[in-house]
Amino acid sequence: MNKFEENNKKLWNELTDVHIKSYNVEGFKKGKTTLDEIQLKELGDVKGKKLLHLQCHFGLDTLSWAREGAIVTGVDFSEKSIEYANRLKAELYINAKFLCCNIYGLKNHLHGKFDIVYTSQGILCWLKDLQEWAQIIYHFLKPGGLFYIMESHPIARIFDNTKKGKLETLYPYFHNKEPIKWDDDYPDYSDDTYIPKNPSYEWQWTLSDIINSLIKAGLKIEFLHEFDKEFYKAFPDMKRDENGWWYLPDYKNKIPLIFTLLAKKD
Ligand SMILES: C[S@@+](CC[C@H](N)C(=O)[O-])C[C@H]1O[C@@H](n2cnc3c(N)ncnc32)[C@H](O)[C@@H]1O
Repeated sequence: MNKFEENNKKLWNELTDVHIKSYNVEGFKKGKTTLDEIQLKELGDVKGKKLLHLQCHFGLDTLSWAREGAIVTGVDFSEKSIEYANRLKAELYINAKFLCCNIYGLKNHLHGKFDIVYTSQGILCWLKDLQEWAQIIYHFLKPGGLFYIMESHPIARIFDNTKKGKLETLYPYFHNKEPIKWDDDYPDYSDDTYIPKNPSYEWQWTLSDIINSLIKAGLKIEFLHEFDKEFYKAFPDMKRDENGWWYLPDYKNKIPLIFTLLAKKD
């Protein structure tokens, strides 16, 4: 684990305490899924399939896939997240396995192969090496297995996210080996009254970095879809639609804000 990952782990342990209050945990306990209609439709029937969830946070999406019938394993390097995920699964009697581990060390701690490797919503910026990430995904898939991701579109990360009005470019689109340090008074994405105490160190990856890492690892891309909405309030001008998606009224149908991708191991 390098010094940036150590710092990010501190941040995620801090944020878990915030998110267990700001995410809709009560709704989840009453049976509400945290998976949106796009993911449910695009990944399709998961009943009886072995699903590995990388960077699962405190497990709401993992446990939602379990409720859809998948046999789930969730992995995250935040001890607090995994501790809470284990508490939730016990309280709700949901069958799931959670593992506290850096995904880059996962091969030493997890054995077996999966029908699906899944990851979503706020994961790529924490990854220092995308080629190694893609190789890990390939390693854990059975032949014929599927990899699915829903993530913020890399283009959405180049704009100033503090200003209202016209979008202005501020951050580079292209990858840099050195991560960008965020240490400001910008509130947490899920609780706008909370200012994180720990800084974050984030890497930018382009769409071609993502696609090419998967191809180079041996996966076949089945589709790449782009959408003009986000799963969180990424810009101050965003409004929420009836399905909970955040969109920019002035940029509807103009710029992509998230993408989904499905890839297969032959
Ligand atoms: C935004 S959250 C994941 C989003 C998830 N869909 C959610 O909101 O519940 C990002 C997660 O990645 C985890 N993470 C970051 N880097 C990691 C790494 N190298 N290995 C394992 N987990 C990591 C963090 O601990 C955090 O729980």
